[in-house]
Amino acid sequence: MGYSNGGMGGKTVLITGGTSGIGKAAAVALAAMGANVVVVGRNRERGEAAVEEISARSHNDSVELLLADLSVQSEVRGFAQEFQERHDRIDVLVNNAGLVQSKRTETSDGIETTLAINHLAPFLLTNLLLDRLKGSAPSRVITVSSEAQRWGTMDFDDLQSRRKYRGFPVYGMTKLANIMFTYELAERLNGTGVSANCLHPGPVGTNFGQNNRGPMALFFRTFKPFMRSPEQGADTLVWLASSPEVEGVSGKYFFDRKEIEAKKVACDPAARRRLWEISEELTGLKVAA
Ligand SMILES: NC(=O)c1ccc[n+]([C@@H]2O[C@H](COP(=O)([O-])OP(=O)(O)OC[C@H]3O[C@@H](n4cnc5c(N)ncnc54)[C@H](OP(=O)(O)O)[C@@H]3O)[C@@H](O)[C@H]2O)c1
Repeated sequence: MGYSNGGMGGKTVLITGGTSGIGKAAAVALAAMGANVVVVGRNRERGEAAVEEISARSHNDSVELLLADLSVQSEVRGFAQEFQERHDRIDVLVNNAGLVQSKRTETSDGIETTLAINHLAPFLLTNLLLDRLKGSAPSRVITVSSEAQRWGTMDFDDLQSRRKYRGFPVYGMTKLANIMFTYELAERLNGTGVSANCLHPGPVGTNFGQNNRGPMALFFRTFKPFMRSPEQGADTLVWLASSPEVEGVSGKYFFDRKEIEAKKVACDPAARRRLWEISEELTGLKVAA
């Protein structure tokens, strides 16, 4: 894929959802460039198998597993703490784990699951690691969004989709939230040496959608052979994580290594601040006034 090898030696990269698909492909590429890679998985068996595969394919033994179910905020806090106890720096944080659900469910924290995993988990994790990211500057935060953002509407009165739930629009709303979070984070981090960017990986043949039954799972299974490989899907992510070309670039949304436009609401500072404040309350980073 034409990455310059090396260049990531001595750097520490944390990747959520590194046990499958785009995250695993990115872990292989970054480990092959010499990075110390830490992947987050929720299942020990799958996680250990992924770490073994990433190590073997990258010829790098410095690949580690941390366990956390990202739908559970106490587990996000627990593994963020564990990561910081084990690693005194973080050069790249990749918020990649995500899912789409055909049916509405709630996490053990009582939060709609897609919102919890796709938006609130990266929001909480990034905030918990901010001091360590600043201390490691220049460092990078990369969040995997999606062009599904176009189907999403930011309904601040019903962010948890209690009134109406439809799988793809709710997924789109969380991917729009990833972009709004990135734009707002970049602004808040201005001058710190920590950059924040997000990306659309394209349609990628992974396990995505297979947590569902019925038409949604069938849809992804049917189109999988026509989609990009995980390695192709990870290309822009790996480039954002490693390339000197994007050193200092922040607050942008990319597809195929080029900046693309987000939905209008993502460019509205008041909407971004509102989402940030609600997210602080939903993650307990700030108690509601
Ligand atoms: N595939 C596409 O066409 C496409 C297009 C646009 C954007 N994206 C985005 O790309 C990202 C990666 O998706 P993918 O296509 O690589 O899908 P995938 O193969 O299903 O991988 C998703 C990853 O997220 C992890 N994950 C899900 N829920 C979790 C939880 N509660 N706790 C911890 N980890 C959890 C999964 O862990 P397990 O292995 O334990 O399930 C897996 O490692 C997602 O954010 C997705 O929205 C994908």
